Amino acid sequence: MVDLDAFVANCKAALADDDPTPKVEALIREAIADPEGLHAAFGERSTGKSLRDRIVYHDDELTVLQVATVPGLQSPVHNHNMWAVIGVYDGEEYNAFFEETADGLHQAGEKHLKEGDIAVLQPETIHAINNPIDRKSNAIHVYGGNLVTREGRSMWNPRTQEREDYEIGQLSEYTKELSGIA
Ligand SMILES: [Fe+2]
Repeated sequence: MVDLDAFVANCKAALADDDPTPKVEALIREAIADPEGLHAAFGERSTGKSLRDRIVYHDDELTVLQVATVPGLQSPVHNHNMWAVIGVYDGEEYNAFFEETADGLHQAGEKHLKEGDIAVLQPETIHAINNPIDRKSNAIHVYGGNLVTREGRSMWNPRTQEREDYEIGQLSEYTKELSGIA
């Protein structure tokens, strides 16, 4: 079984670097090489379905999140205002990247993550994720800050494409709407 306490401690140690993402990426690469071990470790911790329930660890410098996506799940477009490293250990997670210009939001890239793949996101990255396959997918997301309390985060209203202040409850509502989940 993957030792999540050790994983968190090793991520915390990486924060001493100017850019912690190479070390965090290596830690994630090692962890996702053992999908069964991660399933077992997360099974002991994250029992709920909400984003909050799936936070394995968070403080002001680091958040470790288990992200389970059902088939058809589509997140709204959002930013994090901190670096992030995403590793898929079961299934697939499609990442669409966006840029905001004077005339609105435009898709500016993509990364289709399959089992064993990793994406490193910069603090200014704007993205949306979806599960493109017909079964549940699982990923580990590590962020360089407190994902819940970080100020100045944004999400984009899927109906109007307007930028809004990030709010986790409303993000969940938009996700349900976009995913066709009642
Ligand atoms: Fe995100």
